[in-house]
Amino acid sequence: MVKNKYIYDQFKDSASYKKILIEFLKHSTNAEVGGYRNYSGAKDHLTQNPYEIADLIFFLKNYELKNKFYFNKFLEIGFSAGITNTLLNKFFKFKKIVGIDSFKYGISGDVLISNLRFKNLVLLCSDTNDTNTIDNARAMSPYDLIFIDANHTYEGIKNDFKNYSPLIAKKGIIILHDIMNPEWTGVRKLWDEIEKTKKYKMKKIFSNGFPIKYGIGLIIKK
Ligand SMILES: C[S@@+](CC[C@H](N)C(=O)[O-])C[C@H]1O[C@@H](n2cnc3c(N)ncnc32)[C@H](O)[C@@H]1O
Repeated sequence: MVKNKYIYDQFKDSASYKKILIEFLKHSTNAEVGGYRNYSGAKDHLTQNPYEIADLIFFLKNYELKNKFYFNKFLEIGFSAGITNTLLNKFFKFKKIVGIDSFKYGISGDVLISNLRFKNLVLLCSDTNDTNTIDNARAMSPYDLIFIDANHTYEGIKNDFKNYSPLIAKKGIIILHDIMNPEWTGVRKLWDEIEKTKKYKMKKIFSNGFPIKYGIGLIIKK
């Protein structure tokens, strides 16, 4: 039982800690993904399923321990207001974060600023397809963890995977978000194509049963 202690510093590979973590995450997530909030319009909710993101954190933490490989450098493609970024940063205390986002959709400025704080963060505020963006991201590579969550069309995610997956470090993990989201079938299509190449070890994290479905896909070069 974790009592009166900072939840992020108490990680334990145990069922009891996972229960506490899921409970905590439910307060930041909307009812449509199993959380305790209704959509408020404030754009400050975590766009994750609490069960999936807890499973992801557990997988990554155990991967670090098992492989003596640490997620020090993180590239997030589709930074948005940085809410997931902050959650992951609290757990992994990244030494360097590079975020890419053109910020062309509605993002709350206050939420964005609150999620820029206390990080070693470089933000590329441009289109992921721009050659300057790719060059800048490459100049800071390799990354131990790459999270692809920007343009969810088939062409969009295919280009992001093609342009940014070579920037992953040996033993690093690439994550695709929304592999099970029926609104974004192109993500699943790319996932299936990557699987067919047999070049990668792949793991799917998916919590079904809620109106909004995400699905997190992990890709590790063999
Ligand atoms: C689903 S949101 C990302 C959510 C964020 N990863 C999180 O979990 O908190 C997608 C973001 O990708 C950005 N985006 C979409 N297409 C893009 C592109 N071609 N270049 C740069 N950013 C893009 C959007 O501006 C949006 O903020």
